[in-house]
Amino acid sequence: MLLVSALYFSRMVDLDDPVEHRARIDSIMEACARNNPRLGLTGALIIERGWFTQVLEGPRWAVTAMLARIAKDPRHTAMVIADMQELTERRYADRSMSFIDADTAPAELGRLPDLDVAPAETLRARVDAILASPVRVRVAAA
Ligand SMILES: Cc1cc2nc3c(=O)[nH]c(=O)nc-3n(C[C@H](O)[C@H](O)[C@H](O)COP(=O)(O)O)c2cc1C
Repeated sequence: MLLVSALYFSRMVDLDDPVEHRARIDSIMEACARNNPRLGLTGALIIERGWFTQVLEGPRWAVTAMLARIAKDPRHTAMVIADMQELTERRYADRSMSFIDADTAPAELGRLPDLDVAPAETLRARVDAILASPVRVRVAAA
């Protein structure tokens, strides 16, 4: 099975109402728990300063199909696929999706880089740094 890892970022919509915001995250995580295990998808989803960054890994066909589905989701906009690379092994094998609110991450992590110019490598390193930091990670059961 050919495995790939895709990385994209997108802008969240409707940030004003915290209750609505929470409900949206809940429903995205429920969809991850419902769909990702059977599609062989794993990864990490980060929100930071109103942006989503997601790494999705799994079979190439499944990652492609999920990206197409996510692209149509009205809860975000301006989606940019920054990278897709082949994998020999999964990086986030144990979780169908980890969710992190990086606005609660330690200040040492620094600011979200300028997404217009940040190379995929930088964004991937940031996902790993955030996951490794003492920030609360919420997991959609694998
Ligand atoms: C930023 C973002 C990331 C998402 N990630 C996933 C995902 O990894 N898996 C998933 O099934 N749905 C994900 N969704 C939700 C999908 O867009 C879609 O609503 C969902 O897959 C529909 O699932 P259902 O057909 O089971 O209701 C995501 C949505 C957003 C906005």
